[in-house]
Amino acid sequence: MREKILDLLKRKTNYISGDFLAQRLGISRQALWKHIQDLKELGYDIVAVPHLGYRLQATPDRLFDCEVSRNLNTRILGRKIYYFESITSTMDAAMELGIKGAPEGSVVIAEAQTRGRGRLGRVWFSPKYKGIYFSVILRPKLAPANISILTLLAAVSVVEAVKKIAGVDTEIKWPNDILLENKKLGGILTELNAEMDKVNFVIIGIGLNVNNDKRFLPSGAISLKEKSAQETSRIELLQEILRRLETNYFILGHKGSKAIIERWREYAITLHRRVKVYCQGQYIEGEVVNIDTDGGLLVRKDSGVIQKIFSGDLIHCS
Ligand code: BTN
Repeated sequence: MREKILDLLKRKTNYISGDFLAQRLGISRQALWKHIQDLKELGYDIVAVPHLGYRLQATPDRLFDCEVSRNLNTRILGRKIYYFESITSTMDAAMELGIKGAPEGSVVIAEAQTRGRGRLGRVWFSPKYKGIYFSVILRPKLAPANISILTLLAAVSVVEAVKKIAGVDTEIKWPNDILLENKKLGGILTELNAEMDKVNFVIIGIGLNVNNDKRFLPSGAISLKEKSAQETSRIELLQEILRRLETNYFILGHKGSKAIIERWREYAITLHRRVKVYCQGQYIEGEVVNIDTDGGLLVRKDSGVIQKIFSGDLIHCS
């Protein structure tokens, strides 16, 4: 009902009479009034003037499911959205939903995370209403060994969405860091529920620092606000990421990874650099010669041997 009321209110910049609204929605004036109070409590600025009716003056910057799905125009991504004011981690909720059989494209969004996590057991700082924190459930027809491509696909989607909505150029540090001025703007965490040779589902978690004030960011991190000196609509940015994730996911399904990798190359700062990667208990050092079609990083060691790495902690040495 809330969505229907908002839909009607958003269609007009002027007042809409209570009678008209109640009639259109098939509810009593009193029930309408109650719904309007609920919406006000959620932060919608709705004015009510006797004899004129109701007018929506402002929508809060909240990632409510009804706001995210409005004009989203995706086929699968976001067809089911779970919204939380606060949660331990959207990864946990998505994992539970995935196990219970949630459909592909289900999205878990939180305004804050109390135990947001990054790769390699790191903490993902997730203050309320400042960033974007969400996880998507995918059920790709990929072998467990080929899942890394999804992290690259997500990185490309984020970079392109940030450019479109905030007008800011960002870069990708393999495998999952979104960098702005060499500082961390966002990260991607890919978790898997799989058997030996079959992926049941994949969770892609994305965290982005959007409207955070510089002084409250961890060291080495940056927000869009710090760069552009103005607030970015988190709703618009999240919607654009979801749209691009879906488009790129379909491209991957129809044309394979090549098209994704090509775009990844454009934004990547890791290619042709000397790197040191901590991977499965050992350091691998050498020059990055290429990225493979499955998302693996090809590092030429000083011995001349080329080693493929799928995950690890990477430092640029040059
Ligand atoms: C990284 O850079 O190491 C990955 C960070 C991923 C953070 C996101 S925020 C939404 C989702 N929930 C989490 O707990 N982590 C991911």
